[in-house]
Amino acid sequence: MEKILVLDFGGQYNQLIARRVRENNVYAEIRSYSDTTLSQIVEEGYKGIIFTGGPNSVYDPESPHFDPEIMNAGIPILGICYGSQLMAYMGGGKVETAPVSEYGHTDVEVDKTSILFRFTEFDTTVCWMSHTDYISQVPDGFRITAWTPVCPVAAMENAEKKLYAVQFHPEVAHTREGQKMIRAFVVDVCGCSCDWQMGSFVEDSIKSLREKIGDGKVLCALSGGVDSSVAAVLLSKAVGKQLTCVFVDHGLLRKNEGDEVEAVFGSDGPYELNFIRVNAAERYYEKLKGVTEPEKKRKIIGEEFIRIFEEEAKKIGAVDYLVQGTIYPDVIESGLGKSAVIKSHHNVGGLPDVVDFKEIIEPLRNLFKDEVRKAGLELGMPEYLVYRQPFPGPGLGVRIVGEVTPDKVRIVQDADLIFREELARAGADKQLGQFFAALTNMRSVGVMGDFRTYDYAVALRAVITDDFMTAGCAQIPYEVLFKVTSRIINEVKGVNRVVYDLTSKPPGTIELE
Ligand code: XMP
Repeated sequence: MEKILVLDFGGQYNQLIARRVRENNVYAEIRSYSDTTLSQIVEEGYKGIIFTGGPNSVYDPESPHFDPEIMNAGIPILGICYGSQLMAYMGGGKVETAPVSEYGHTDVEVDKTSILFRFTEFDTTVCWMSHTDYISQVPDGFRITAWTPVCPVAAMENAEKKLYAVQFHPEVAHTREGQKMIRAFVVDVCGCSCDWQMGSFVEDSIKSLREKIGDGKVLCALSGGVDSSVAAVLLSKAVGKQLTCVFVDHGLLRKNEGDEVEAVFGSDGPYELNFIRVNAAERYYEKLKGVTEPEKKRKIIGEEFIRIFEEEAKKIGAVDYLVQGTIYPDVIESGLGKSAVIKSHHNVGGLPDVVDFKEIIEPLRNLFKDEVRKAGLELGMPEYLVYRQPFPGPGLGVRIVGEVTPDKVRIVQDADLIFREELARAGADKQLGQFFAALTNMRSVGVMGDFRTYDYAVALRAVITDDFMTAGCAQIPYEVLFKVTSRIINEVKGVNRVVYDLTSKPPGTIELE
């Protein structure tokens, strides 16, 4: 399979670079500079390499560097931002602090004789800049192919060696003709044939997983979420009964969710695998009794999951491979690891310590969420599973403020189902990033049928978001909110008030805990 390597030097937009390449039907893979060697790159047979941006200055000894011989390996390279400066530095050019930094929209003049720019509409094109250093002198053998009044080298190239560099970010949408430039690199410079599709990813993955695993035993923790489900189906297509999937039903799932997962993956479903459902609700409720502090709740739910999985793994015995449904954004989040802990996500990590296995398999680690969904559809999975909205590992545990009790779980499950039903009926669910009902810990006085009530308030939450890092409150039509409110009050015992949460993220988070 033809593929492009995105060599990661710590830039913010690396995932976008890979996506832009894949939009040209060429497979792209992201690897960190720090755990990749030149010989690995050569061995993998990449058709081209893209050096990403990054926050550092190439002169800082601590900054990411790479074996300069990569420039003589005969593989085409496109350097972006920090990657362009690194290329200049490695080639013997000069990089300095720019007298004037450039941020945002910038008019860049391009030399249309360059293969990268020959399809731009005019000699000047709008690009997105974000830099404080710049290339002040290009290395021998390079020529300048783009510039701005304050940036003498906005692009440079050594066409003979197929080395190209741009100071701006062609991958972001603000660079108006960036996609044409990336296509020019991938197709015209690297010579890729653009025949990659999600179907080929699925076929190739099944084939290579089969070769790798042989007759080995494979274990997968299935949460019922999109990522672990797609990973499980991929593995089941590759090795069938050699795969065992353990699904821990912690009693904190959405209404009917445990049964839905079992219907797809259990012995009556379409896939051949060993499916084990552990009904652990009682155990969780017992552990969570009297616990109100959000982080403590998260820890308990996470630890209990690991204990249960450990018990199951012991029954199965040693396995060769442990499958995880890690996707690219998870890799980024856990890779950076420097940001403050707002919430501890329980589903990343933990398992490898308690399972006796030789190697981890993460078949989706280079894909984005929408690509994982496409792979799921290619694998013939049902749409309701593939388009299921994200659900946190600790489940309803973080949607019930304060102590978790079976009765509160019932309230949230029923209220949430009503909210989902009415949004779907109104056709208002497709545009939303995430939506759910949660239970506040507030009880208030109401009156129902001439009687005083003193019951809980349900909070409805619906957000619009691209990346779940920031989110805005969704404008749900009032009629829908009224209908949902009235149904919840009438149908869900224990609730006498419904509120709609208008908070964005930040300052709120999406979940309540
Ligand atoms: P917050 O509440 O942090 O949520 O704004 C952002 C996104 O992450 C999901 N979330 C989790 N996902 N394990 C997960 O897999 C967790 O522990 C967890 N906590 C929050 C949340 O549903 C939203 O999509």
